[in-house]
Amino acid sequence: MSEVVLVTGGASGIGAAVARRFAQAGAKVVIADVNPAGADVAGEIGGLFVPTDVASAQDNEAMVAAAVDAFGRLDVVHLNAGTGNGGVEFDLESYRRIMAVNADGTMYGMRAAVRGGARAIVVTSSLAGIAPASFDPAYSASKHAVIGLVRSFAAALPDVTVNAVCPGFVDTPMVAAFRERLVEHGLAVAAPDEVAAAVEAIVRGGETGGVWAVQGGQAPELVTFPAVELAR
Ligand SMILES: NC(=O)c1ccc[n+]([C@@H]2O[C@H](COP(=O)([O-])OP(=O)(O)OC[C@H]3O[C@@H](n4cnc5c(N)ncnc54)[C@H](O)[C@@H]3O)[C@@H](O)[C@H]2O)c1
Repeated sequence: MSEVVLVTGGASGIGAAVARRFAQAGAKVVIADVNPAGADVAGEIGGLFVPTDVASAQDNEAMVAAAVDAFGRLDVVHLNAGTGNGGVEFDLESYRRIMAVNADGTMYGMRAAVRGGARAIVVTSSLAGIAPASFDPAYSASKHAVIGLVRSFAAALPDVTVNAVCPGFVDTPMVAAFRERLVEHGLAVAAPDEVAAAVEAIVRGGETGGVWAVQGGQAPELVTFPAVELAR
């Protein structure tokens, strides 16, 4: 029986590359996105598009229900939808929107995925989730939250693997406005499929609680965190 894979933010960029990669490997793929262009990607790969706002708990439940209804099961969930551009002005509306999509969306998505029987969850964080990104602090904080959710729930859930992928700059619409400047500064800009390949390898690896940095032209690297010993 085919593997069933659900990808949020699959209409574009990294998510679309993940959807195409798993479809090529024979999976049935569900694309959940606010962007109706998700229907085109789904059409191209024989998948299903489910209009979804990941900031809504209800939409997360509905996308999982649609996947199980259409394909009879759910195996892999990539919680990849994300947004940024909070700036440095303490704009509370931007902060709430970024947290709602990136942090709440991860929590709602993990909950729905586990209830739907998924055995592997990968969440897209960012290098900005490991080190502060001063150009967009709210985005950076939200991606730190994503890593906290992944590591904490991985430790608590025995029946599902939960891992995070942390891309550096990736050639998607999210960086289109400043892509040329990145290249001028000699910074690596990964192809979306480099991240997709890492996501597939993480799923196939079967480990849990991992945080993987993925940068253009480099092999994925496991991020290490300090061990904490409780004082007595
Ligand atoms: N491009 C980069 O350099 C980069 C680096 C690190 C992390 N990321 C992360 O990678 C993920 C994918 O981004 P991308 O670079 O492919 O950009 P992208 O803009 O190509 O794709 C993001 C997708 O998420 C969808 N989305 C946004 N808000 C949503 C919502 N509320 N509900 C459902 N879907 C929503 C968008 O419609 C879009 O299809 C994001 O989480 C982003 O933060 C990107």
